[in-house]
Amino acid sequence: MSPENTSPVIALEDRTRDAAKLYSPSAARNREPVRAVLAERLPKQARVLEIGSGTGEHGEACCAARPDISWQLTEIDPDSLASCAARAEESEGLLAPLSLDAGAPDWTSGLAPVDVLACLNVIHIAPWSVAEGLAAGAAKLIARQGFVFLYGPFLEGEKTAPSNREFDASLKSRNAEWGVRPIDAVTALFAGHGLSLAERIEMPANNLSLIFRRAS
Ligand SMILES: C[S@@+](CC[C@H](N)C(=O)[O-])C[C@H]1O[C@@H](n2cnc3c(N)ncnc32)[C@H](O)[C@@H]1O
Repeated sequence: MSPENTSPVIALEDRTRDAAKLYSPSAARNREPVRAVLAERLPKQARVLEIGSGTGEHGEACCAARPDISWQLTEIDPDSLASCAARAEESEGLLAPLSLDAGAPDWTSGLAPVDVLACLNVIHIAPWSVAEGLAAGAAKLIARQGFVFLYGPFLEGEKTAPSNREFDASLKSRNAEWGVRPIDAVTALFAGHGLSLAERIEMPANNLSLIFRRAS
């Protein structure tokens, strides 16, 4: 990072801009596969809370596919909050973003229960404490029949794709607290909060969608 650019890295890609709206190259590639997974699993009239919404494009795509749902955007980064706000103004069901740090203690206070907590491509580019906050918050917020949707790359021992190993090393070289998370560690973390891994769905480019539900 040059001395002139000291803002924290929030996305490892060059996002383009149209006024406040940001466009993410990776979201352009994965929003349709993500939309397909969620559109068929979201309960009717689902209330979705997304953590780390980035540009807001995943919520926008899901609300277009499922006009019955509401999707609460949240972010920690001001530019991303502005992008989410611009999209929320144009999209039915997409709710104006809340400023939220999932690594903060008690980040759930004041939030209403939800059916689905969604978090895409966040836990590898944030300290592990954010994953911990996410799991603890999910246990408080999701309804009995609800679920957590996590999307991104994961380490899976021997079967980890070489590209994900390389990505892990590159993340750690940028920030020692970042890294592609081992699926076993993530599963154990959520299990500790009463949320069991219910589905592991292979996605393009060696990513996974993981769905956690309350243990019965
Ligand atoms: C790689 S981007 C992913 C954005 C979007 N979910 C996507 O998949 O396109 C990671 C996002 O996580 C957000 N983020 C990082 N730490 C966070 C935290 N502690 N709480 C909430 N959001 C966070 C960043 O601001 C950034 O927008």
